[in-house]
Amino acid sequence: MMPAKNKIMILSGIVLIISLSFRKKQDIPLFPAPANFPKPSYNFSANALTNEGIELGKTLFYDAIISSDNTISCGSCHQQSAGFTQHGHALSHGIDDKLTRRNSMPLFNLAWSESFGWDGGVHDLDLFAISPITNPAEMNESMARVLDKLRKSQQYPALFKKAFGSEEINTERFLKALSQFMLTMVSANSKYDKYMRYEGVELNETELAGMAIVKQKCASCHAGELFTDYSFRNNGLTHLPVDDKGRFEVNQNESDSFKFKVPSLRNLGFTAPYMHDGRFKTLEEVLAHYTSTVESTPFLDPVLNQNGKTGIMLSKDEQQKIVSFLRTLDDEDFIKNTRFAENTLTVSIPKKDIDAEVVNFRPVSGKVKAIFNESIDIYLKIKEAIKTQQTGIAAKQSDKLPKVLKKLNSLPLANAEKVFFNTYLEKLSFDCEHIIEGEYSTEHQSEHFIELSKNFYVLIASFKPDYSKLYYHRCENSDLNWLSDKINEVFPKNNCDKIQTKKL
Ligand code: HEC
Ligand code: HEC
Repeated sequence: MMPAKNKIMILSGIVLIISLSFRKKQDIPLFPAPANFPKPSYNFSANALTNEGIELGKTLFYDAIISSDNTISCGSCHQQSAGFTQHGHALSHGIDDKLTRRNSMPLFNLAWSESFGWDGGVHDLDLFAISPITNPAEMNESMARVLDKLRKSQQYPALFKKAFGSEEINTERFLKALSQFMLTMVSANSKYDKYMRYEGVELNETELAGMAIVKQKCASCHAGELFTDYSFRNNGLTHLPVDDKGRFEVNQNESDSFKFKVPSLRNLGFTAPYMHDGRFKTLEEVLAHYTSTVESTPFLDPVLNQNGKTGIMLSKDEQQKIVSFLRTLDDEDFIKNTRFAENTLTVSIPKKDIDAEVVNFRPVSGKVKAIFNESIDIYLKIKEAIKTQQTGIAAKQSDKLPKVLKKLNSLPLANAEKVFFNTYLEKLSFDCEHIIEGEYSTEHQSEHFIELSKNFYVLIASFKPDYSKLYYHRCENSDLNWLSDKINEVFPKNNCDKIQTKKL
C-alpha cells in the first residue's frame, strides 16, 4: 500500500547523518530532521543553529517587550498547547484586543515551507516577524523602537553576546534568533509518524481506511508527509469577505483572488478553529463543507470541480473514517515538549507588575461598594465554575458581571474615576464575552479567566470596596492568577509549587 515506506528506510540513514552534523554537545540534535520527512528548504548555512541562538529566539518569542504597549508577545497568538495557534479564536486578537483579519497560523515544520502567511506574502522565514511587529492590529511597534528597548534592557545585551559573539543588537540578529527558535519546532511524533517509521505502533482498521481516503481525495493538495504541497488554492468557502483577496494581495494577479495557502493536516486536534478566517469549529464541519457546501466560482480549484460536480463526495461513514485518521496526526509530544515552553527559559522574562496599574482612589460610597460586592460574588461564581469545568455556568455568570458593574455609571464618580472605571470595564467585558463564547472549551475559558482576574483585580483594588476577605493569588512560574475569599487556596489543575497570596 505504501511503496514510499521502503524509500524512507534508505533515506532515514542519510537523514540521520545530516542530523548528526547539526548535533553539538548535547544528545538531542538542535534541528531534529525526522526520518520520514523530505529535505528541508530553509538555508541553514546562512543561519547556523546554536543553543544560545535558539535560547535568545525563544526569549524574544515570549517577551511582550516587542509590542508597543508591552502586552503582546508572539506567544500571545501562537500558544504551544494550541499547536502554536491562538486558542479558540477565529480571528486572532492583538494589541488593545484589536482583531486581526485572519486566523493565527500554527507554527511547526516551518523549515519545509518556502513562503509564509495565508497568502504567502513573505518568502523568507527570517523576514516574517517584521509583519506582526509593525501591524497596527497585532503588535503596533516599529523595529527601531524594538531594538532600542532591547538595547536598554537588563538581559538582552548579554543574551545577544552569547548568541552572536558581541552585544550588538540589530535587526538581522534579532530576526535570525527568532527563526532559530521557530525552526526547532519540528512536529513529527504523531501516531501516524510512529507507524510510518516502524516504531512498533499500528493504525487500526478505521484509521487505515481513513488514510486511504485522504490519500485518494485530499492528497492532491494536502500532499506528502507534511500534508501540504504549500500551493495557494481556493477550496470553495462560501461568502468570502471581499476585503481579503488572499494571494491576489501579494501578486495582483486576478486569477489568484481568494486563494489561500494549503495548510498542513497535522495537529488539527489542537488548532481549531479552521480555515484562514477560522469559520469552522470542528473537523466534522470541515468535512461537511467539502461534501456539500463547496461553492463554484471562477476561482475554485479544478480538483474540487470535476465531471460537473463540485466538492468531494463523501458518505457519513467515510467522513468519520477521515476524522479517525486525522486524529492520528496529532502530536502530543510536540505540544508538551518542554524545549518550546515559556517556563523553561534560562533567563526568565520580568513579569509586568499588576500592582503598578492599581490607582489609589478615595474610598467609595456605600452604593458603589454594594455594586462592587455584588460583582465580587459573581466573579467568585465564575471562578468556581471554571475550576469545576462547568462551562455553561461560567458563561452565564460572565454574562452578568459587566451588566452589574455597568450600574456604577449612574452613580456620581469623579471624572478620572469614571474614565478609569470604563477602561477596565471594557477590558473585562471583552474577556467575559470570550468566556461566554468559549462555552465549548474549558481551556479557552481558563485563558480569558486569567485576563479577567487581572483586570478585575486592578479595578477593585483601585476602588477599595468594603470586602475585607478577598485575596489575590499568583503563581510564580505561570501566568495563572485568580481572586478568592480564602487565603492559600490552591487552584486545581495547577501544579505551581509556590503560591503568593495577597490581601487586598
Ligand atoms: C495578534 C496575533 C499575532 C501575533 C502577536 C503574532 N502572530 Fe504570527 N500569525 C498571526 C496570524 C493571524 C498569522 C497569519 C497571517 C496572515 O496570513 O496574514 C500569523 C502567521 C505567522 C507565521 C506564518 C506561518 C506559516 O506557516 O506561514 C509565522 C512564521 C508567524 N506568524 C510568526 C510570528 C512571530 C515570530 C511573532 C512575533 C514576532 C508573531 N507571529 C506574532 C497572528 C499573530
Ligand atoms: C483543491 C485542494 C484541496 C483539496 C482537494 C482539499 N483541501 Fe483541505 N484545504 C485546502 C485549502 C486551500 C485550505 C485553506 C482554505 C482557506 O483557509 O481559505 C484547506 C483547509 C483545510 C483544513 C483546515 C486546516 C486549518 O489548519 O485551518 C482542513 C482540516 C482540510 N482542509 C481538510 C481536508 C480534507 C480532509 C480533504 C479531503 C477530504 C481536503 N482538505 C481536500 C485545499 C484543499
